Amino acid sequence: MSAGLNYGFVGCGMMGQEHIRNLNLINGSNIAGIFEPDGNMRQDAATIAPNAKFVSSIQELLEIKSLDCILIASPNHCHLNQFEEIFKTRPLPLMIEKPLFTNPADNARISSLLKHYPEPVWVAMEYRYMPPIAYLLDNMEAAAGNISMVSIKEHRFPFLSKVNNWNRFNQNSGGTFVEKCCHFFDLMRLITKSEAKLVMALAGQATNHKDEIYDGQVPDIDDHGYVLIEFENGMKGMLELCMFAEGSRFQEEISVIGEFGKIEALVPGPGRFWQHPVLPAPLPQVIISPRSSEGLRILDLPVDEALLEAGDHNGATFYQHMRFAEAITNKSNVDVTLQDGSAAVRIAFAAQQSASEGRAIKL
Ligand SMILES: NC(=O)c1ccc[n+]([C@@H]2O[C@H](COP(=O)([O-])OP(=O)(O)OC[C@H]3O[C@@H](n4cnc5c(N)ncnc54)[C@H](O)[C@@H]3O)[C@@H](O)[C@H]2O)c1
Repeated sequence: MSAGLNYGFVGCGMMGQEHIRNLNLINGSNIAGIFEPDGNMRQDAATIAPNAKFVSSIQELLEIKSLDCILIASPNHCHLNQFEEIFKTRPLPLMIEKPLFTNPADNARISSLLKHYPEPVWVAMEYRYMPPIAYLLDNMEAAAGNISMVSIKEHRFPFLSKVNNWNRFNQNSGGTFVEKCCHFFDLMRLITKSEAKLVMALAGQATNHKDEIYDGQVPDIDDHGYVLIEFENGMKGMLELCMFAEGSRFQEEISVIGEFGKIEALVPGPGRFWQHPVLPAPLPQVIISPRSSEGLRILDLPVDEALLEAGDHNGATFYQHMRFAEAITNKSNVDVTLQDGSAAVRIAFAAQQSASEGRAIKL
């Protein structure tokens, strides 16, 4: 495919560079400009984006005439201000990393952007595009019939180190359910085709980051928890998160159950972390289990090596960019709207609040 779009980047650390490596696999994509305050990250980005002009502000980035769109991949707490600055200066089609915002008090600012931003905005909920999850989304009704339950288990590695350790504190990241799990609340909305009405959560910091200190402060982020959600249509969702289980065979296990049976998507973590001396890194799988085990099916869904090398997300970043470029080029609807991005974060805020106050939250 030849997308031919010129991208401007706001923030180009680990995830920004994953975006660039994937865009480099799409013919015609060009990284025209990058605003990245950190010198090391600028150097790394320059090696994979040789045509990019490095600038020192968003204003300077927006002066680059050739830009077709902007991608925001800065730390979570920067997203909303930067979105507004782009709106006021030169609103271009936008891809913005999750979570859209980190403070529940900013709901009104999001609603205003939702109403007035004149160009398409895509929120980077890329888990939708991981091959086993995409398969589950496309086939869940055929496999399970009328769905009543969805559960998502994520057992993974602790939060990685980030530039200036922004992800160690709730006030920057929004909290673990916001930073990490808005992806899963987005998936639950897609699967149930409904909005959350009741959220109950437990969470805590059991193991990770306790011996870390930044500017005299110990990180306050949770490393495990459970969330139960009731949706308006009566469907039930459950999330289990553990961030000290990096030896697990699969990182995400999603199961959707209906009247006829169950469909599961099993997603391995990044291959670069797989250490077993004999067993190869697992392949992504889908398991379809009708109520009679006679019909059980297990499908392997391998991901192209080039896509695996370009990032940590089972090819999802590439597929997301193909869809984004199509939407911008053809002026068609984006898949993951501002509405989707903000609804997922609102569920996450309710989960954070429920866990800290010890009560169920009605939305
Ligand atoms: N969609 C996904 O699956 C996924 C995965 C990982 C990260 N993310 C998101 O991507 C974003 C970046 O995360 P990361 O892992 O790359 O972190 P990172 O720390 O590696 O990168 C963030 C970059 O932003 C730069 N930065 C800091 N302040 C800035 C500012 N005011 N303006 C512009 N740039 C600024 C930093 O110097 C750094 O290079 C976060 O919002 C994170 O939640 C999404």
